Amino acid sequence: MGDQEGFVKILGYNLYYRSSGATDAKVTVLVLHGGPGGSHDYLLPLTDLTQWGYRVVFFDQLACGRSEIPPGTELFTLPHHVEETEGIRTALGLGRVHLIGSSYGGLLALAYAIKYQSNLRSLITVGGLPDVPFASAEMNRLIDQLPPEDTRAIKLHGSRGEFTDPDYLRATDRFYHTYLCRLPEWPPEITRTLKLAEERPVYRYMNGPNEFTITGTIRDINIVADLPRIRVPTLVTGGRFDEVTPAVAQQIQSGIPGSHRVTFELSSHTPFWEEREKFMSVVASFLQDVDRNLDRSAPRT
Ligand code: ALA
Repeated sequence: MGDQEGFVKILGYNLYYRSSGATDAKVTVLVLHGGPGGSHDYLLPLTDLTQWGYRVVFFDQLACGRSEIPPGTELFTLPHHVEETEGIRTALGLGRVHLIGSSYGGLLALAYAIKYQSNLRSLITVGGLPDVPFASAEMNRLIDQLPPEDTRAIKLHGSRGEFTDPDYLRATDRFYHTYLCRLPEWPPEITRTLKLAEERPVYRYMNGPNEFTITGTIRDINIVADLPRIRVPTLVTGGRFDEVTPAVAQQIQSGIPGSHRVTFELSSHTPFWEEREKFMSVVASFLQDVDRNLDRSAPRT
């Protein structure tokens, strides 16, 4: 019972994990963070799902958050993250899980499902992106909707690579408070994830200098053509003002047969903070429906 944290050796490196709720709970929700290169911290509100009897497990991907940093960068890839996820699931004996991924974690959850869907009860994406070039183009559209001085600062200094120019940083802050988290006071967990992303090696390498400049190694990833292979119950979520826009969420829903989509009308990229109660109740009711159906169809012994 209660919280547990520690390290497990996965593919040769110590990955940090954290677990809330009864370890003998029948069903686990496994949570995947974004960035790529963030940490689990900003997703901690999902521990609320323990109120519905779930065990909730988080981990920090390789070289992220509190996890070990390998030499070099060749392991910082989507396929490696898929195997890390599978490694955590088996090492902790989590069984068939509900998988929730936020942002790049949503892309990771989709990629995991394409390879390992028989290990899933269900799949949930929160601001997930299956087609990075399209998501980037959408972010550029959002930049154009900022106050003109911010649009100008981002375009001018961005094109010159002046990512620390004060005007550029002020505009970035405005973008973040409009499309990343709209709460006037940011929870320290979000700030902590952003700080860790800056300090550790993955974010800059895989994502880029900031959220809307995706020049890192994920920039060309597009798995839309594989989405129809996903046959597990799927819930696609995001915020109305999400930096990963509703049009991107629509791409996922259109790709996965029978998937459901919910847009949180007052939220951007972190609806689990911005509309916490509503988010949890939508997710819990989806999970419970899935579990009821699985229990009903399970062979009687
Ligand atoms: N940078 C986006 C994320 O938060 C893709 O994962």
